[in-house]
Amino acid sequence: MTTAADYSEKIPNNVELHEDRRLQRALESWQPNFLSWWESMGPTLPTQDVYLRTAVNVGREGWAHFGHVAMRDYRWGIFLAERDPDRRIGFGQHRGEPAWQQVPGEYRADLQRLIVIQGDTEPASVEQQRNLGATAPSLYDLRNLFQVNVEEGRHLWAMVYLLHAHFGRDGREEAEQLLHRNSGSLESPRILGAFNEETPDWLSFFMFTYFTDRDGKYQLGTLKESAFDPLSRTCEFMLKEESHHMFVGTTGIDRIVARTAQLMRENDTDDVVAYGAIPLDTIQKYLNFHYSVSLDLFGSETSTNVANYFTAGIKGRWAEGRRKDDHRLTDDSFLVDALIDGAATQTEVAALVGLNTDLRREYIGDCQNGVNRWNRILQEADLPQRLRLPHIAFNRRVGAFAGIEATPDGELLSAQEWERRKGDFLPTDVDKTYVRSLMKPVHERGKIAAWIAPPRVGINGRPFEYEYVHLA
Ligand SMILES: [Fe+2]
Ligand SMILES: [Fe+2]
Repeated sequence: MTTAADYSEKIPNNVELHEDRRLQRALESWQPNFLSWWESMGPTLPTQDVYLRTAVNVGREGWAHFGHVAMRDYRWGIFLAERDPDRRIGFGQHRGEPAWQQVPGEYRADLQRLIVIQGDTEPASVEQQRNLGATAPSLYDLRNLFQVNVEEGRHLWAMVYLLHAHFGRDGREEAEQLLHRNSGSLESPRILGAFNEETPDWLSFFMFTYFTDRDGKYQLGTLKESAFDPLSRTCEFMLKEESHHMFVGTTGIDRIVARTAQLMRENDTDDVVAYGAIPLDTIQKYLNFHYSVSLDLFGSETSTNVANYFTAGIKGRWAEGRRKDDHRLTDDSFLVDALIDGAATQTEVAALVGLNTDLRREYIGDCQNGVNRWNRILQEADLPQRLRLPHIAFNRRVGAFAGIEATPDGELLSAQEWERRKGDFLPTDVDKTYVRSLMKPVHERGKIAAWIAPPRVGINGRPFEYEYVHLA
């Protein structure tokens, strides 16, 4: 009895874990494996404690509790958004029926697959980012990195909870596999390509949190619509945390662009290398890379699987509730991107099979907001240069454009031309080596690296100079 009480203390939750002894035992046996994964694959920089936000409940007060904690003792909990007892299914053939509290047998395999794919990305990004602490540009940034890392750990808990609670033995096996696959591993890599790329420097980290975490936002947005209510409620709460990850990316790139712009102005030059900053064309190349690999995460332009998920009610559209149509789409058509006679163009398909394209377009529109924001920084510095999103056919490895090469303007290139020119569009070894050469740790209170501007405000009302992290 004492053990049980301790355990529910250890895993803060709002799912009444103590009432389900079997589930509690299952999670109890998974927990040490999670902790040993965190120890061996999580952040490598030794710290005493970090000023972290911990979710202790889902209410307005509970989900953002700030304090210095040792990361290993972070209280990874299980939180689902409040249940709406009257919730109805919003789309597909079951539209209007009550949301499901249990998994319907016929959709079990598909739901499990979607949860596993989402779950796999969460620990993957922790693995990708594990060495970044050693080169943090400030204690503020170091704290933000660790905040993202512990929350991705919590998102893994969120998916593992669903697997344990609703998918029986198969779910428990999948939960084990989520700790066995590793980012970049040759024998058992993570499921999705972008999650096997390295995040070797902070420019990559900010691009990743801007572009790749934003893919996560859109995937979670579609699962939040799910007829399977526990999944919907889980994703709704994850989205709250996710917005901080995108804040880290957006403002990180803001601050890099601002620093570069400042040095360009002060010294009347585009070449800021002499001043230890990152040239705009290098920033553009990193943007090109992270954006194009993130576009691939949305899958093929057309997909009958995704059409079936929608019809079944297990995965909806972004902002399903705000769409002005019948939410069934059986008679609608949609224009998707396509390669026809060697040209990047569009073609009409049944709306249901074009849902990946629909989601990718919502995402692209959102990505453009960041670019506009960075361009305003350049404009305010009276600089004529602008950043931009590359063409949809640029550097794609999934979907209609996987077999061709194109410039960021969308001009098609032969394989030979691509090889000759790709260094103009994507980071070269020289660019990467330069960016890595700037990655010297600044772990002193109130100090910051030369390639990035300080933030305008600190975390939770604290100043930039605050001791966000105590190193070991
Ligand atoms: Fe996440
Ligand atoms: Fe995230």
